[in-house]
Amino acid sequence: MHRPKTKILVDGGDPEETRQIKELLGFVDGQTTNPSLIAKNPRIRQLIASGHKLSSREEMDEYKKIVQTISPLVGDAGVSIEVFSDEKTTAQEMLSQGKEMFSWIPNAYIKYPCTEEGLRAAQMSVKEQVRVNMTLCFSQQQAAAVYSATKGTKEPAYVSPFVGRLDDIGQNGMDVVKNIQRMFSKGDGHVLVLAASIRSLEHLLYCFALNADLATVPAKTLEQWANKQFPMPDAQFQYKASGKPIPYEELDLEQSWERFDIQHELTRKGVEKFAADYRATLSPTA
Ligand code: E4P
Repeated sequence: MHRPKTKILVDGGDPEETRQIKELLGFVDGQTTNPSLIAKNPRIRQLIASGHKLSSREEMDEYKKIVQTISPLVGDAGVSIEVFSDEKTTAQEMLSQGKEMFSWIPNAYIKYPCTEEGLRAAQMSVKEQVRVNMTLCFSQQQAAAVYSATKGTKEPAYVSPFVGRLDDIGQNGMDVVKNIQRMFSKGDGHVLVLAASIRSLEHLLYCFALNADLATVPAKTLEQWANKQFPMPDAQFQYKASGKPIPYEELDLEQSWERFDIQHELTRKGVEKFAADYRATLSPTA
């Protein structure tokens, strides 16, 4: 197999699945998790099915066990662990969860949402040398805010544009990946683009064609790639976009992050859905 320049992460919440993908590909550069994926972890599902809902401490302990099992399986792109947040969670609360999660494994990246509180948490995190992956990114403005909020970080920060969810609302999600990369090519390289919400082989091949820094991909799509003998895009590769194009914006990366327009309806909905999936695993008294 011709190993792509783009680092490949498994988008999931089950260590067994990661192990299988590693066997299939011969490598896995990293892993991303999120509250919805953790709620689908086989052991957590089994606990819920047997009538055992978790306390928030138990949920944290289960999450910790999952990432501790995945951690040694992956390469240098690390394991992304997401804080639990809803619209009321403060930056300080996110930071304290993030710091605890960061101590679980040596290769952790902490996922915070691209919201005001999430960006504030990221700004504090990088000062404390906690690596971050800014999730639920749907716009170039949000990515510019991530760039600005994480300036001075010792290790690269990640920003995760969500391709599939933009496609779902009739936009060309891959344009956001392309636009962010173009914008960052004028920067100092401290933020890497991690294409997320990848749903098809087409998405993956276009990530390769764009030389995206990283892509997080569900096992199913990686299996399709393997079944087709690991195709790579050639010079004639054309991405067949179905949605409306998203135009490039000229933005000043030197502005403070508060000056960017970071509002996006899909970020709000995404936070809500992650919080709902997390709560569904908790006992009412948790
Ligand atoms: C990974 O970091 C994201 O949480 C994930 O890719 C989201 O994918 P989805 O839009 O298919 O839920």
